[in-house]
Order: sequence, then structure tokens, then C-alpha cells
Amino acid sequence: MHALATARRAPETDFRLQGPDASARNFQDSEWQKSVTDEHIEKIIKYGGAAVGKSPMMPANPDLSAKDEVAKALRVHIRELSNS
Ligand code: HEM
Repeated sequence: MHALATARRAPETDFRLQGPDASARNFQDSEWQKSVTDEHIEKIIKYGGAAVGKSPMMPANPDLSAKDEVAKALRVHIRELSNS
């Protein structure tokens, strides 16, 4: 088994224990890629899951709120991961 799969975390900080909807996204999934806008991706990166009605396990990055170019670069990277 992979080491990451056995890592122990407190239940409240382990998104694997928060139910199926709290799993982190598979960014390779082209269906997911098509379903979200660039604006949505940049917003969740800056303000976290709770700000866009998603899991609060996706943390906010307040230091990026005034750094559009960094959020954009992360979004471009996520788009490049698509398998289509
Ligand atoms: C540079 C770091 C990160 C980036 C760029 C990033 C980006 C994203 C994006 C674009 C989504 C898609 C949300 C959607 O489907 O609408 C997402 C979801 C998610 N992320 Fe992150 N993330 C980062 C770090 C983290 C960390 C550190 C965690 C927690 C350990 C995390 C947990 C999650 C979870 C649980 C979701 C699923 C939210 C949901 O569908 O309800 N992310 N992230």
C-alpha cells in the first residue's frame, strides 16, 4: 500500500473521511474540466471551497487575493493537467 494511504490525520482534517463529495478533484478528468470556468478555478484557489459552495477542506489562499497573476498561473497549470 502507498505510504500516503496509511498516513494518519485527525478525522476532522482528513478529507477522505468527510464523505464522497469531499474528495479532492481529479484534475485529469476532462468532464470536470469542461464543467468549470476559468473564473471558478481562480476563485476557489483564492477564496477556498466554502466560498464557492464546495468542500471547506479546499483551503483559501488569502495571500493570493491581490495576486491575480499567481492564481492565473495555477489555473493554467490545472488546465494543462486535463487528459483530453
Ligand atoms: C496550490 C494548491 C491547490 C490548488 C491550486 C487547488 C485547486 C483546487 C481546484 C481548482 C479545485 C476544484 C474545485 C471544483 O471542483 O470546483 C479543488 C478542489 C478541492 N481541493 Fe484543492 N487546491 C489546492 C490545495 C488543496 C489542499 C492543500 C487541500 C486539502 C488538503 C485541498 C482540498 C481540496 C478538496 C477537498 C477539493 C474538493 C472540493 C469539492 O469538490 O467540494 N486542495 N482544489
